[in-house]
Amino acid sequence: MAVRAVITGGAGFIGSNLVDRMLGLGAEVLVIDNLATGHMRNLHLAEGNPNFSFEQADITDAHTSSLIANFRPDVVFHLAAQADVRVSVANPVFDATVNVIGTLNVLRGAVDGGATRFVAAASGGTLYGEVDPSNLPIAETEPWNPLAPYGISKKVMIDYLRSTQSLYGLQTTSLALGNVFGPRQDPHGEAGVIAIFFQHYLAGTTPTVFGSGDQTRDFIYVDDVTAAFAAASGVSGTGALINIGTGIETSVNDLVRSMNELTDKPVEPTRAAARPGELDRSVLDISLAARTLQWKPEVGIHDGLVRTWEWFTGPNGASARS
Ligand SMILES: NC(=O)c1ccc[n+]([C@@H]2O[C@H](COP(=O)([O-])OP(=O)(O)OC[C@H]3O[C@@H](n4cnc5c(N)ncnc54)[C@H](O)[C@@H]3O)[C@@H](O)[C@H]2O)c1
Repeated sequence: MAVRAVITGGAGFIGSNLVDRMLGLGAEVLVIDNLATGHMRNLHLAEGNPNFSFEQADITDAHTSSLIANFRPDVVFHLAAQADVRVSVANPVFDATVNVIGTLNVLRGAVDGGATRFVAAASGGTLYGEVDPSNLPIAETEPWNPLAPYGISKKVMIDYLRSTQSLYGLQTTSLALGNVFGPRQDPHGEAGVIAIFFQHYLAGTTPTVFGSGDQTRDFIYVDDVTAAFAAASGVSGTGALINIGTGIETSVNDLVRSMNELTDKPVEPTRAAARPGELDRSVLDISLAARTLQWKPEVGIHDGLVRTWEWFTGPNGASARS
């Protein structure tokens, strides 16, 4: 029997890539998304597949629990979120409503619908806060010290998953993602730096680097992330938090060098003052993912950049750019 999977946030960047992976694995997929930042165009490969269905619904609406429960899912992948750090600072009540209350509604639907597994997107870039360099790469045992409201609401989400596991037996896993990039990442608003920069390379405009550019992040290609979600749905979560990254530190200046080479455009970014609250260094220890999920990143940053640039310059990227 085909696995029945609900994917919240399935019209978004990571969620839609996960939809394609799960349909490819033969699952029956229901996407729940209010299209706040997601787009139906991200689901063009899924539409028409008899195993695919879509409900435009808001996870903050209690009725959405019944939509999930009525589908009788085996697994719920929870990616719908208010995912913009700056929005969370400007409006922490809205952020908590989507990321905390919304998560509780999705958990309710999973429990009521008899799901056995629940895998959610947490944030490895914000959960731990600034970590002593001697503790890099960051292991899951590092204290959780998020600074922005977004990091806090995502941290609370992890606690609610653990609580639901102990109260109701639903097997839950939170994946603390590094900085994800790849096709369908929206280059508008506060998207990932790679999508924003590629947009500038295409438009012939100049990207801005905030601070020295020596700040590092753990950039991970979206296919590696969706593979981790699929793997996590197949093992018994222990209420665990698992880092998903590459374990490799890449600075923003390194990125610009690679992008210049790849696009054959000698872009010299504008430099601006560092933004308050930005971390100096962030890189994740991924040994727990290797042990528990038998997962490791396959694509890597170089090939990931090549594939992302191909997408941005191709026909599907054109609609995202406009
Ligand atoms: N992109 C990254 O680098 C990254 C890193 C760490 C964690 N995450 C997490 O991964 C998940 C997916 O992020 P993404 O980058 O694909 O962002 P995205 O904005 O493309 O996807 C989020 C999706 O959730 C939907 N959504 C938002 N509010 C909703 C609501 N109230 N009800 C129903 N749907 C709603 C949006 O329409 C969108 O389709 C999020 O939970 C995010 O916090 C992302």
